[in-house]
Amino acid sequence: MAESPISSQSCHATLTESLASKDEQADLPWWKTTVIYQIYPRSFMDSNGDGIGDLRGIISRLDHFVYLGVETLWLSPFYKSPQADFGYDVSDYKDVDSIFGTLEDFRDLVKECKKRHLRLLIDFVPNHTSTEHEWFQRSLKKDGKYKDFYVWSDGKVLPDGSRARPNNWLSVFGGPAWTWSEERQQYYYHAFLPEQADLNFRNPDVVEEMSLTIRYWLDHGVDGFRVDAIANLYESENVFQDNPRSGKDVPSTEWEYLTAVHTDYLLPECQNLIMHWQKLFDDVQELDGRERFMVLEFYTDSKTRADMARYGAHPFNMDLVEKLSTPLSAKQMMGLIALEYTDKPPSYWPTFVVGNHDRKRVSTKFGSLYVNAFNLLLMALKGTPTTYYGEEIGMEDIHVDYEDTQDPWGRKAGPDRFLEFSRDFCRTPMQWTPDQNAGFTTAQKPWLPVSSDHTFRNVQNQKQDPNSHLNRYKDYVALRTRKAFKYGEIDLNCLLTDNVLSFLRFSGSERYLVAINFGQIDATNDFSVSPVNASTGTVVTDTAAASSELTKGQLIHLQELTLRAGEGVVIEL
Ligand code: NOJ
Repeated sequence: MAESPISSQSCHATLTESLASKDEQADLPWWKTTVIYQIYPRSFMDSNGDGIGDLRGIISRLDHFVYLGVETLWLSPFYKSPQADFGYDVSDYKDVDSIFGTLEDFRDLVKECKKRHLRLLIDFVPNHTSTEHEWFQRSLKKDGKYKDFYVWSDGKVLPDGSRARPNNWLSVFGGPAWTWSEERQQYYYHAFLPEQADLNFRNPDVVEEMSLTIRYWLDHGVDGFRVDAIANLYESENVFQDNPRSGKDVPSTEWEYLTAVHTDYLLPECQNLIMHWQKLFDDVQELDGRERFMVLEFYTDSKTRADMARYGAHPFNMDLVEKLSTPLSAKQMMGLIALEYTDKPPSYWPTFVVGNHDRKRVSTKFGSLYVNAFNLLLMALKGTPTTYYGEEIGMEDIHVDYEDTQDPWGRKAGPDRFLEFSRDFCRTPMQWTPDQNAGFTTAQKPWLPVSSDHTFRNVQNQKQDPNSHLNRYKDYVALRTRKAFKYGEIDLNCLLTDNVLSFLRFSGSERYLVAINFGQIDATNDFSVSPVNASTGTVVTDTAAASSELTKGQLIHLQELTLRAGEGVVIEL
């Protein structure tokens, strides 16, 4: 077990930071004006040549964020873990896995982030622990308070005296969600792998331990958390209820075969827990004056997000990750975007995402032509955007053969179906340089292959090219230093066609038109009409589309503006 937290030190870092945590001009908390960047630690930068990224590697690359203007990092798990699900199977919440470094490295990371005014969010995985966690090992032995730390069931007793699982619930990764323990002679529930046993949040001791975990990392100086798998935290208490068939034409072992009404939705208990965690944040804020932020992983709908905001929760909006169809339709996108600003309580704050470590990258789903368009959209919308590492250089998924597949979801699916499930493709090493292994590692073989396109698609090369994805991304982030993008309002009632969407951002007399062609052909439109009500404007930035006629600083006419396929532009009015 790790040593105790450094609470006294961090509580000193107080009042000055408290002032800095509010943006005085608009009185918005820092997390409403920031850009979040997701680092998948295994794949970001390897400092010790073992082929796997680590904390020292991240420290060595922090200036990348200063260059980009990104202010907040979210680190996927780096805790002690047997790595069955690459860190989402935690065996000690209060220690760093030796693959990633040490607690000392983490403290240095916090210090180095602070030096650069970077905020740090860390992944919090409350739903389940590794079965190697001491709590599970003690629970197996029914040891004291750990006896009911997990979701145990005797199952059904069959007429011949043998046991069967209590219900038909399936694991997200496929197969039954209950595994028999010979040692305890009971089944335990796992929403994910059998190596990831679900904690029993109906047990106050579990709630208490997880609160201590939150407090521990807050005391280490983190600015908040991305909370994993929030919808899985509670299951129906009566486990003798089957999930109904979904009607989907998939094998009966696959999660989608059933509708997870008993396992994968936000039970009322969850609300209390989220509010309890928020209270922990408030308590710490009272001590040191720094506002913390918690964003929840939840694939849900707009109405549920609104309901959650009423009790102070901020779920990621995953609509652009999972609901867009190809070929892209600007009308469909605008429909999804508009939901974010409709029928929401005042406490609601949009949190757009377009990719993460569980889904295909934008370039792979929609084509590299649209990389800048998505990056621009993300930064220009009102709300807090999250960028997945590598999106700033337009990284693409690569193929990893079944034999080399690392992701347990892919391996479980077998050689015929791993392509549908493996998440290795979007987790390949960050491409820093044109050198061997993209400058990610000095090892011969990184944990996942490096994309062969690193010879030209890498940070070093793109820094030299003013029209690269990287430098455009930097421009889009910089937009958010302008009042209209930072605090301003959004008006979506602008020109919308099958291919082109547009909107206004404004604050006082500052007004910008953002227009993007998500179609596959050039489009010429009149953008001058209401609510734009202007016939000319100046190009602030664009997507640097090939053969574009737009250049930065150029005065353009809005009545007949042509955007190439995949081209977007920001125009100051
Ligand atoms: C959601 C995470 O994003 C995913 O990577 C992980 O496999 C599951 N939760 C289980 O923790």
